[in-house]
Amino acid sequence: MATALILLAAGQGTRMNSDLPKVLHPIGNAPMFAHALASASALAPERTVVVVGHGGELVSAEAKKIDDTILIAEQTEQLGTAHAVLQAKDALDGFEGDVIVLYGDTPFISEDTILAMAEARKTADVVVLGFEAADPARYGRLVMDGDKLTRIVEYKDATDAERAITLCNSGLVAADAAVLFDLLARVGNDNAAGEYYLPDIVELAWETGRTATAVSCDEAETLGVNSRVELARAEGIFQAAKRLEALENGVTLVAPETVFFSLDTYIGRDTIVEPNVVFGPGVTVESGVRLRAFSHFEGCHVSLGSTVGPFARLRPGAELANNAHIGNFVEVKNAQIGEGTKVNHLTYIGDADVGDGTNVGAGTITCNYDGVFKHRTTIGRNAFIGSNTMLVAPVEVGDEAMTASGSVITSDVPAGALAVSRAKQANKPGLAIKMFDMLKARKAKMQKGQ
Ligand code: UD1
Ligand code: CA
Repeated sequence: MATALILLAAGQGTRMNSDLPKVLHPIGNAPMFAHALASASALAPERTVVVVGHGGELVSAEAKKIDDTILIAEQTEQLGTAHAVLQAKDALDGFEGDVIVLYGDTPFISEDTILAMAEARKTADVVVLGFEAADPARYGRLVMDGDKLTRIVEYKDATDAERAITLCNSGLVAADAAVLFDLLARVGNDNAAGEYYLPDIVELAWETGRTATAVSCDEAETLGVNSRVELARAEGIFQAAKRLEALENGVTLVAPETVFFSLDTYIGRDTIVEPNVVFGPGVTVESGVRLRAFSHFEGCHVSLGSTVGPFARLRPGAELANNAHIGNFVEVKNAQIGEGTKVNHLTYIGDADVGDGTNVGAGTITCNYDGVFKHRTTIGRNAFIGSNTMLVAPVEVGDEAMTASGSVITSDVPAGALAVSRAKQANKPGLAIKMFDMLKARKAKMQKGQ
């Protein structure tokens, strides 16, 4: 069955106390709204429509960054959830199949729950996701008759008896596209809030000869984010879940609570992650890797059997081939590091290609930036870069070439050559002793004068 998603993201989020639209606040380094879309990607949606309002341009731009096929629908006035969903109608023109309505500020809906909603569509025309609320507060209540969901009543409009119901509305809905838009067109705003309520489609379904049912999930999945306090809590929940997922996937986390993930972090099995490692967005790590303590990763790939850290930083575009070694206080950016290559100490490798089996000595720097342009450094296979070499890019060091330590390399080094680029050493016999005597005498004179 073809599926389309409608994600509601038009609300202002006043309680965030922020210039940034609520749904753009990050959880796991991804905008909050991306989480529900990631869970729903299990359905391989044919179309995804994001309904934007407050901060619409910013939200649209972020949505396009995640997936440039995402369609945008604008809701210029926030007249209610039914009105919001209706704005997606044009974007779904010609689409046939099921629609799932998600909320941008409800990030923890699981893949399993979304799959269960899609499955329940086989038994009813409208499927609503509910949950047993520990404190039902001001949620809408699901009025059930056996398996049948007869209607949803908003707290504001509910009688005391209805308020006693603990099965609450999460807001998520699944329905056939044509049925959904037919029902939405019938929704009015004659209620306590004067809003067009999406939940009203349930009663309208029965009135028009259709059926409705509810699927329930754990309350934790329906957690919404409305304030910075809730955002911080959501981040904690996200991190805990990601740690558990990594452990279950066969990754060793020596001190799980000190490791921080992004929504898209992928780590292969039998990789060991030592304490205090941070994964920014866009990191993939293969199997059998050791990521040592206090290392920071972003937009990079680490292949089979490599070791990184402690105290290493892999920045966007860093790609390590199998069995590479990146040691302490090494920064790698936009660079390929070859198989078995070692960059073990105090080094900056930026905008570079380093071949297989090469050794990069301590204190090496690729001088990639001239103040205006960035330039590339290429180092071949089985080369040896002496300690404290400055590689002034653009520059190339050939296969099996060597640079003498302390060299400033400004022109290409042919394969197999040794480049020495530093002042020649001169020894002055006895001069050190003379210097020491002179300095000591000066110090004694100064102390006497005080
Ligand atoms: C809604 C449900 C309620 C449910 C609760 C769960 C309605 C009428 N009520 O109430 O039954 O228990 O969610 O959290 O649907 N939005 C728009 N445009 C609008 C209005 C809302 O995009 O015109 C978006 C909001 O940004 C938000 C979501 O829809 O992401 C829910 O809206 P909100 O006003 O928070 O609904 P609730 O009153 O919480
Ligand atoms: Ca709400």
